[in-house]
Amino acid sequence: MTDVDQPLALDHEHALDRNYMTLSRHVLQQLHSFSADAQDLSALMTRIALAGKLIARRLTRAGLVEDALGFTGRTNVQGEAVKKMDIFANQVFISVFEQSGLVCRLASEEMEKPYYIPENCPVGRYTLLYDPIDGSSNVDINLNVGSIFSIRKQEGDDADGTATDLLQDGHKQIAAGYILYGPSTMLVYSIGTGVHAFTLDPSIGEFILANENIQVPTHGPVYSVNEGNFWQWDESIRDYIRYVHRHEGYTARYSGALVGDIHRILFQGGVFLYPGTIKNPEGKLRLLYESAPLAFLIEQAGGNASTGTQAILDVVPDKIHTRTPLVIGSKEDVALVESFIQEHLREQRDKAILTSQS
Ligand code: AHG
Ligand code: MN
Ligand code: MN
Repeated sequence: MTDVDQPLALDHEHALDRNYMTLSRHVLQQLHSFSADAQDLSALMTRIALAGKLIARRLTRAGLVEDALGFTGRTNVQGEAVKKMDIFANQVFISVFEQSGLVCRLASEEMEKPYYIPENCPVGRYTLLYDPIDGSSNVDINLNVGSIFSIRKQEGDDADGTATDLLQDGHKQIAAGYILYGPSTMLVYSIGTGVHAFTLDPSIGEFILANENIQVPTHGPVYSVNEGNFWQWDESIRDYIRYVHRHEGYTARYSGALVGDIHRILFQGGVFLYPGTIKNPEGKLRLLYESAPLAFLIEQAGGNASTGTQAILDVVPDKIHTRTPLVIGSKEDVALVESFIQEHLREQRDKAILTSQS
């Protein structure tokens, strides 16, 4: 019998390149449940993924279409120049969650107050907090950017629309993650059961599982900080950087987009810092939309996130756009930065005691 005469056996093992695990299936599998809460979370993640796909599509064609690049000429609530892509991505999240029945409010870095979707309330028991485009200075030069998201359960009826229930610590997050728009688009998320990464397969429009239960190395070579601010920092941070310069095994990486820098550290270890500066003693990064979601994620991966003196997840904001200094990454590297800060605080205390005694 020749090969041609052989009956065609269906080879299930090689029918697909790999065992395609989609995001929505993964969420349900992680929760071991088909309960209403599990279905909600799965639907929420699917919508976030849709926002990611729409933003990725715009970014990949940004140089070819009218009005995708450049500034709007406006500034946001924190006084930063707003880019057209910031507005586009902000609106994408709103559109994706309208008539979803899932979230009642969206709070974004780009909006002064949360955006309410009355038709979703009170059915939608969640709030989505997000940074629509993180690293927007990279947009116009075709470098990596990201989106950051966090989900919290709405507490109370928020009848006066002040969203005071959002002014709670980061342990209140039930899910968080980011989408990285790089050479490929990746979505990394945690619902409190580890950290998992998905890669967008554009040919089928699905995020497919790439890495499950990611663990950040306890120490890594990378330090990621804007050293242009060196003379703006406190002496303790300068001392840490001097230490890094004098010791072998460190390498500097800074992309201008927190999401990209965190992604590298998640896989390879190291530390990202955005300390306070003379001009901005609380640094630049916003607690609810950037630091807390990434802290949730990195802790789930076995890493750590700190202001330098306090765990990021313990910080209670006094307003929704509160900023915090951020030190995040491998446990040992975060601890080393903290030790420099503690040392300086001790010295300052000792000096103050001596002065008061003299
Ligand atoms: P955003 O684009 O959302 O305003 O965030 C930019 C952030 C962060 O992504 C990045 O790490 C940092 O700002 C860069 O700031 P500097 O240019 O001050 O280093
Ligand atoms: Mn940002
Ligand atoms: Mn942003």
